[in-house]
Amino acid sequence: MPTSLTAKCLGCGREFATEQVVLLGQTFAAERYCDFCREQEKVRDEGRRADERWTRVQVPSAYDGCTFENFEPVPDTRNALAVCRQWTKEFRAGTDLRQGLLLRGEPGAGKTHLAVAILREVVWSDREPKPTALFLNVPDWLNALRESYGDGEPPPNPSGYDLVVLDDLGAEDWSSWARDRIYNLVNQREQQRRLVIVTTNHEWRELAGRVGGPTASRLRRLAREVHVDARTDYREREAA
Ligand SMILES: Nc1ncnc2c1ncn2[C@@H]1O[C@H](COP(=O)(O)OP(=O)(O)OP(=O)(O)O)[C@@H](O)[C@H]1O
Ligand SMILES: [Mg+2]
Repeated sequence: MPTSLTAKCLGCGREFATEQVVLLGQTFAAERYCDFCREQEKVRDEGRRADERWTRVQVPSAYDGCTFENFEPVPDTRNALAVCRQWTKEFRAGTDLRQGLLLRGEPGAGKTHLAVAILREVVWSDREPKPTALFLNVPDWLNALRESYGDGEPPPNPSGYDLVVLDDLGAEDWSSWARDRIYNLVNQREQQRRLVIVTTNHEWRELAGRVGGPTASRLRRLAREVHVDARTDYREREAA
């Protein structure tokens, strides 16, 4: 029968009951921190781990603060916000989602904001194992890939991530090299049955003209189209 002992918590200094441990004739307290301080440390640890997971998603710092809560639900984007929230809720609940989302709309409508808000909720989800996610701005990713053929640092390889955001698809250059890279990426997502969130300014036909028919066809299957139809460019509103 373990003997109990009153010890002083190294965290808050309060006295708490713990068990006594005897080692080489010496008596020690089994715990050095009280239940409350241990619980607080667990919460801090989880926060630190979530921050590390968030850093690995590689969201550009300008979008770091984008959440569903600070997305103003103007009437013309309210539906897009609701669809994104629902999709995220299902993802977090572990639903076997067959499709991601393709957020289409004019510049400044809030597509990237919504995509980042989804990533944030995904990274902070309670799901186990923790989902992995990556943000790729497609033109930047292609540029980094091109530069890495010299002696630059290779950009992240999206293979294997549970969720990948392909931001600003269709804004890249139109070279066949760029098309091939995007085809490989999208085809790999399809083959691995992994999810994508796409943001783009382009209608399907225009997008197919840019990324190529086979890629556009795969994307249609991989992602459900959502219109983000803000009547005003939010950037202009912010600048006014
Ligand atoms: N409804 C909204 N509520 C709050 N902030 C918003 C809203 N819509 C857009 N913003 C803000 O406006 C800026 C531009 O939005 P965002 O970059 O998401 O637009 P976009 O649709 O991705 O544009 P583009 O097609 O040019 O990439 C961002 O700072 C974003 O946080
Ligand atoms: Mg954008």
